[in-house]
Amino acid sequence: MRILSGIQPSGTLHLGNYFGMMQPAVELQQRGECYYFIADYHALTTSGDPLLLKERVRGVALDFLACGLDPARTVLFRQSAVPEVHELAWYLSIVTPVGLLERCHSYKDKLARGFSPNNGLFSYPVLMAADILLYDADLVPVGKDQKQHMEVTRDIAAKFNEAFGATFKIPEAGIREETATMPGLDGLKMSKSYHNTIEIFAPEQEFRKKVMSIKTDSTPVAAPKPVEGSTILAMARCVADAATVGGMEESMRRGGTGYGEYKKQLFGWLWDYFAPMRARRAELEAEPGLIDQVLADGEKRAREYALTVIARARRAVGIK
Ligand code: ADP
Ligand code: TRP
Repeated sequence: MRILSGIQPSGTLHLGNYFGMMQPAVELQQRGECYYFIADYHALTTSGDPLLLKERVRGVALDFLACGLDPARTVLFRQSAVPEVHELAWYLSIVTPVGLLERCHSYKDKLARGFSPNNGLFSYPVLMAADILLYDADLVPVGKDQKQHMEVTRDIAAKFNEAFGATFKIPEAGIREETATMPGLDGLKMSKSYHNTIEIFAPEQEFRKKVMSIKTDSTPVAAPKPVEGSTILAMARCVADAATVGGMEESMRRGGTGYGEYKKQLFGWLWDYFAPMRARRAELEAEPGLIDQVLADGEKRAREYALTVIARARRAVGIK
């Protein structure tokens, strides 16, 4: 089985990214051949700072390695190292109905947030489809917010196959129900665009401050606390065992303990959970040339595969 996913180098890795995408991606290394890439072309739709973009690409590569990506087994590469993806995006765009793209929530959200409606934002899902189809991916681990983009990818692949004959595999989205949407500090979906994130590699003081700022209601200390939809419990379930979280839930139902106490516990669990990855990241960061080496090797392996698929796509449409 071939597994593929991408992440934009557009911020610092937060709990939502980690549990929604990175952790499943790392675990899936046991189940198949993995291709993971850093979506720098996609990040251009919102970036605007060339130096920062370059720095963040390295940051994401470090994050992947620190979180357990094994570069001997998995292909880790920059999206832009395989520019043929644009050629494929063009072939796909001729079978992509405009209406399909107009319905994309992520495009509509961006416009609502004040981005100008340019073609890059609009055709973002076509490039994403090309990312996936260029590697014959069977499974694409992503968070729930990418579900619609995955449906678009499947639609485009089917339309292409219908128009030009069986060329592409139809990929499946791998969405983990238990962490489909990690809530942020305010209880809404954790996202860097909502400024409600907890960065997993933040320094201790900043990390603690963020956890302590999780929004809670004004239930008095003595009273039972609501457990449905609790952000504290949702985060705790990701990092503590069931019995420990069960204990916290019980205590909330009983009352008598304030939210501050629960947040302190949660901070301790989160901090300890990420400790080995934090240490590994610091080690890797100190190794000169490591990231360049890993990305150069990944690029070679990714490109080799992509060239066979692009040749197939060219034959299908009648180019060359
Ligand atoms: P952001 O919303 O912060 O901009 P991205 O869109 O860059 O995050 O998402 C990168 C990956 O992390 C995607 O696979 C996405 O589905 C996943 N992801 C992001 N936020 C969450 C969340 N709150 N819960 C679960 N997965 C998430
Ligand atoms: N759109 C994805 C996100 O914002 C990133 C991405 C680009 C991606 N191409 C992809 C994810 C291909 C999976 C497969 O998170």
